[in-house]
Amino acid sequence: MRKLNIAIIGLGNIGSYLFKYLKKNKKIISKKNNCIPNVIYVSAKNRNRNRGFKISNKIWLKNYLDATKNKNVDLIIELIGGAEGPAKKLVFKALKNGKHVVTANKALIAKYGDQLAKIAENNKVNLEFEASVCGGVPIIRSLKEGLIANKINKVYGIFNGTSNYILSSMDKENKSFDDVLFNAKKLGYAESNPSSDLNGDDVSAKLKILSSLCFNSFLNNNIHVEGIKNIDKDDISYAKKLGYKIKLLGYAELIGKHIFQRVHPTLIKESSYVASIDGVLNAVIIDGAPVGQSIIQGEGAGPAATTSALISDISSILRGNVKFPFSISNKERKNLNFKQISERDFSAYFRFNVIDKPGVLSNITHIFSKNNVSIKRLVQDPNKNKGSSSIIIITHPSKDKYLNKIIGTINRRSYVKKKSKLIRIDDE
Ligand SMILES: NC(=O)c1ccc[n+]([C@@H]2O[C@H](COP(=O)([O-])OP(=O)(O)OC[C@H]3O[C@@H](n4cnc5c(N)ncnc54)[C@H](OP(=O)(O)O)[C@@H]3O)[C@@H](O)[C@H]2O)c1
Repeated sequence: MRKLNIAIIGLGNIGSYLFKYLKKNKKIISKKNNCIPNVIYVSAKNRNRNRGFKISNKIWLKNYLDATKNKNVDLIIELIGGAEGPAKKLVFKALKNGKHVVTANKALIAKYGDQLAKIAENNKVNLEFEASVCGGVPIIRSLKEGLIANKINKVYGIFNGTSNYILSSMDKENKSFDDVLFNAKKLGYAESNPSSDLNGDDVSAKLKILSSLCFNSFLNNNIHVEGIKNIDKDDISYAKKLGYKIKLLGYAELIGKHIFQRVHPTLIKESSYVASIDGVLNAVIIDGAPVGQSIIQGEGAGPAATTSALISDISSILRGNVKFPFSISNKERKNLNFKQISERDFSAYFRFNVIDKPGVLSNITHIFSKNNVSIKRLVQDPNKNKGSSSIIIITHPSKDKYLNKIIGTINRRSYVKKKSKLIRIDDE
């Protein structure tokens, strides 16, 4: 049987699990692909770190970059992480030297994917990155193979398990953001520095990759990104009373000739499919023709789910044939028209915390009508002890720029006690 010689660079959470899994399942993976995945080198930063398994001197590479020059290496698996530094050096050098590359690194692909894909195509090698988007959810291979027939109009969903865990626990356990985040760290669902999960950057990197695959475009940085840090217990409970759940969603959609990319907390109907995805799960929904709506749901992170995606990429290379990293040749990819979301229409949820006195409500509704935003529902919730009132307003669809103008105007009024909230609604 043919053999493919592999170097695994990075033996942390993911690399260590993959190394052990490949060793244990070598036979069945070989049989399924008619080619043997043969790990001949591994490398990481610290040779002496205890990884729970033995690494012989024969396979340890002192300098990880040597894998890119070694004639016997066919495939390099990059599991270091980060858009810059050693991961970037390794992947650029590997592709330039004609090695196939598999990576789980969303930051690297979202930033340098176009340049890397060009080098891979010119050198006729594979660059695969299934594990970079939503861990074990096989969305990239589905787009490139299973759904290849389709013209995609929209891809959206829950792409970050940490923020989904936090929002669904706030909802179910009626706990504050900080209490839930503390628990998430204790349970290993949030990293000690979870900022890229909470500020939307993690979802943004994944969405850019998906959007590029769906619309045959180059990666595009025109993307609106908001995280979940400003969502509090009151927003969750008001949303619930109005029949909604709050989820951090990523959307890339083709409307007319324009593409909108956006990541933000969203009110979604309690009865919808996306609202039922709780905890650390991810879900990706594709709208395409002729398939209609297609959904994949599963574990979005962790060594086991990520290894499932890595083995899928490795198998694709074991089976042979060079594939275009972004589904079609770089010569065919386009610079499409990506638009700011200020021009897109949304229904919205507003929450104002104001001094409870006559005239305030009429001033607020006047500002809405001056901006041509029509109100669908209004709830007033006074707190006699504090002399304040919460005013919740749900609007009919209106341009995002007018919704933002309202928030800006009302926040400058002296009757406002706390910064006002605006959360977009998905009513579909
Ligand atoms: N963790 C997840 O659930 C998950 C899910 C999907 C995708 N990913 C992606 O998978 C990749 C790896 O993540 P991880 O969680 O396994 O990270 P990790 O536990 O921090 O492991 C990183 C590995 O890179 C090695 N490394 C760091 N600097 C190096 C250098 N200069 N030269 C050689 N090796 C170096 C480290 O060596 P030492 O061990 O010696 O320190 C370590 O083995 C990232 O791109 C991440 O975004 C992770």
